[in-house]
Amino acid sequence: MDYKENILETIGNTPMVKLNATVTDVPALVLGKVETFNPGNSIKDRMALKMVEDAEKEGRIKPGGTFIECTSGNTGMGIALAAAVKGYKCIFTTSDKQSKEKMDILKAVGAEVIVCPTNVTPDDPRSYYSVAEKLSKEIPNSAWLNQYDNLSNRTAHYESTGPEIWKQTDGKVTHIVVGVGTGGTISGVAKYLKEQNPNIKIWGIDTYGSVFKKFHETGEFDEKEIYPYITEGIGEDILPKNVDFSLIDHFEKVSDKDGAVYARRLAREEGILLGYSAGSAVAGLVQLKDKLTKDDVVVVIFHDHGSRYVGKIYNDEWMRERGFLDTEIKIKDLIEGKKDVHFISATKSQSVKDVLTIMKDNDISQMPVMEEEEIVGSITERSLLNHILGGEGKGPEDSISDIVGTPFPTVEIDTALNKLNRYISRENPAVIAKDMTGRMHVITQYDIIQAL
Ligand SMILES: Cc1ncc(COP(=O)(O)O)c(C=O)c1O
Repeated sequence: MDYKENILETIGNTPMVKLNATVTDVPALVLGKVETFNPGNSIKDRMALKMVEDAEKEGRIKPGGTFIECTSGNTGMGIALAAAVKGYKCIFTTSDKQSKEKMDILKAVGAEVIVCPTNVTPDDPRSYYSVAEKLSKEIPNSAWLNQYDNLSNRTAHYESTGPEIWKQTDGKVTHIVVGVGTGGTISGVAKYLKEQNPNIKIWGIDTYGSVFKKFHETGEFDEKEIYPYITEGIGEDILPKNVDFSLIDHFEKVSDKDGAVYARRLAREEGILLGYSAGSAVAGLVQLKDKLTKDDVVVVIFHDHGSRYVGKIYNDEWMRERGFLDTEIKIKDLIEGKKDVHFISATKSQSVKDVLTIMKDNDISQMPVMEEEEIVGSITERSLLNHILGGEGKGPEDSISDIVGTPFPTVEIDTALNKLNRYISRENPAVIAKDMTGRMHVITQYDIIQAL
């Protein structure tokens, strides 16, 4: 039989996968260290277990006690797994910018989650650092693991992630590219690899709105560098003890948009569904491509899994609202948003009154007119009203046959909304499109205005 004693034994030994389509402009061999294969779906399982075991060894917690941590989710997941196996409780403080999925997952593994405001300074009593510290003082037999300053964090990567990369690349790795948050990953990996080969270059990925890059380049902690950003997991408004700046050769800032766009490209073009910071890491590498040659072997560390971001970077609406999607809105995007609306049509034999009633009940102002599955014309609220108000001999009981207009134009679902001006006019307020399943949809002026 081949089995592990418990889930914690499956942490580490993650695969390395060559990147292709997303790095065609990069001359080097680019390998992704896919940390989503850890049981908690992120690299943080490694350091979480190490922090828990070191706390046990140091006597900072007794059996049945409570681990407290400020975490954006991934570290919490790792701690929760270790706590479940070892019989501890967990309370996590997190910030309100983190995805709901991340918080729900932490609750699913038994943790209590306290959400704190993002846009307060770290020393504000409401910040997620301050709340964690306060709880650790109040709750008996509890330990605040403090991933920012607890050096067991970087030691975990010195002991496991670094040696794995060295072994998997047969000692040929020349560059590491990795997002920096607590600094545990970059510092632990860098220390191990530089001990093997001091020429290996370590590139940290930073966000706009974080203090790392400026501090690294000038030694100045510049508060003007701090402002809100959207990327999750990397960049900081503090200098965690786990960041060893002396081991980092360069910090590259990546925009929120580029990180998100590259994460989506990794999913669609490489088939690897990853978190935001993985996209930032590849975007940063592409920004630095001119510093590389064909003989270089670059390892990019992918921290976490994309499932935690389905409502965010993998959601077109979310991307569009933030101006992150350059692509035009197409008819098919609009149909996607209207999925549950039925296709409503009239027939020539129906009365003016009946058709007006259907329009009123469905809150629409125009309809296609069908005969035996074929679109033969269109009818608008205006032509119905004109008929009723038209005087002598005209009334609501007449059939609509005499006032049916020309059919609405049919357009391909790939047509961009900004190309519709040639179809939509005063006389022609709608177009018709067929989706992949053959279902027809009416797209009206109103739909287009809403989408834009
Ligand atoms: C998704 C994600 N990416 C990157 C990082 C940064 O890793 P580290 O804290 O080891 O610097 C984190 C850390 O929280 C993370 O959750």
